[in-house]
Amino acid sequence: MTSKTVAQLLSQDVTLQDVSIKGWVRTFRANRFIALNDGSTINNIQCVVDFENFDEALLKRVTTGAAIHVTGELVESQGKGQTVEIVVKTLEILGDSDPETYPIQPKKHSFEFLRENAHLRTRTNTFSAVMRLRSSLSFAVHKYFNENGFNYMHTPIITGSDAEGAGEMFRVTGLDAKNPPLNEDGSVNYKEDFFGKETNLTVSGQLEAETYAMSLGKVYTFGPTFRAENSNTTRHLAEFWMIEPEVAFMDLAGNMDLAEDFMKSVLSHILENNKEDLEFLEKRLLDEEKTKPQAQRSEMSLIEKIKFVVDNNFKRVSYTEAIDILRNCKPNKKKKFNYIIEEWGADLQSEHERYLVEKHFKCPVILFDYPANIKAFYMRLNEDGKTVRAMDILFPGIGEMVGGSQREERLDVLKEKMKALDIPEEELWWYLDLRKYGTAVHSGFGLGFERLVMFATGMGNIRDVIPYPRTPQNAEF
Ligand code: 4AD
Ligand code: MG
Repeated sequence: MTSKTVAQLLSQDVTLQDVSIKGWVRTFRANRFIALNDGSTINNIQCVVDFENFDEALLKRVTTGAAIHVTGELVESQGKGQTVEIVVKTLEILGDSDPETYPIQPKKHSFEFLRENAHLRTRTNTFSAVMRLRSSLSFAVHKYFNENGFNYMHTPIITGSDAEGAGEMFRVTGLDAKNPPLNEDGSVNYKEDFFGKETNLTVSGQLEAETYAMSLGKVYTFGPTFRAENSNTTRHLAEFWMIEPEVAFMDLAGNMDLAEDFMKSVLSHILENNKEDLEFLEKRLLDEEKTKPQAQRSEMSLIEKIKFVVDNNFKRVSYTEAIDILRNCKPNKKKKFNYIIEEWGADLQSEHERYLVEKHFKCPVILFDYPANIKAFYMRLNEDGKTVRAMDILFPGIGEMVGGSQREERLDVLKEKMKALDIPEEELWWYLDLRKYGTAVHSGFGLGFERLVMFATGMGNIRDVIPYPRTPQNAEF
């Protein structure tokens, strides 16, 4: 008899058949009811043991967290809460779990505690649901691009360029930190390093993706990116996964359309395919919000929020319009913001972004045409000479989800910009080549995958939507 998953058994309507199942014990109640979970679904299957027919010593080993193998008859359930259950015929302990030390007891644990036990936290309902959704969303990402003619490109993890020009990079070196080879002036001689130059972990695959867009047309990357920014927030990781499409002959308006269509598509996918997990997480969020004051609770439930995004157009607003709104809004006038917006040109902080999406527009917002000097060097300069064709997509409860732009395709303008920012041409000669040979309008964006998972699961801390979060002072596991 081959073993089935709990998900398969629970969706089965044929009863009265012999089944075999392996999983981990969630609870064992009244020496009779085992709630068994194998990760295939949020639901447990109930296994009923007639304790008189089993060795007492064996039943003592049926503890929370133990791995067991059960065979028995699948029958209609007498109790409420499940349709079928297993009347156990044989019970085998595959792996014991000492109840004195097993951290994941059947009670409410704080997320902080579970983070410290991240290797076991997917044995809880919340984290198994979150990680199944993460997996499903990843699949939806590839499905969307595949169905829309994009080529999946693997951009390098180790690189010599700082795509964002923000200098927040983790250095990659094979040199002995205690005794590196030095130049005559005392600086480290990277010519003797593994790659013969300074290298770092990538902060974005964009620049390399642009090279492939300018030959394969439509490409995307979906891989890990690294930022050594020391921001200890609920929305920043030092290692996160980014989705970056890049498309030749597409302008900023096309880029906005693509981003919006893409996000609606992947969110529709989980609405269709992950109903039970979403329902569980929706209830979890509701319970969590009950502990908050009314004003901080959301107006919509988790599934309603996702449906809202799928069914409504994102609001498209220029930076200039946004600044007008912010300058005249109450929290700005009453000096409630930490950073008061005084004039055009100010960089937007997350408090401003959240005001725009959560209080003013109450929907996802695409902000575009930002001042050139607060954005990266590669963005297409507008005819006004002071704004660039940049876009950020802001989400309620999340803030910035997407950053993208139309790229500067004019060689002379790009060179001038790099010069002004002290970016050496020798470092990006290949990037400039794209503008020398067959240049064309092209655009792309980067979406922080964990922020999407946060939105889709209603989890409030980015550390809880990635298996093993890397943050300042933390790289356990
Ligand atoms: O806005 P960013 O920095 O844009 C880029 O890297 C561009 N090269 C993308 C492109 O045009 N191809 O980052 C893009 C997104 C952000 O909007 C945010 O969602 C996410 O990546 N992100 C982070 N997510 C988690 N932790 C961090 N430290 C993040 N930094 C950026
Ligand atoms: Mg950004």
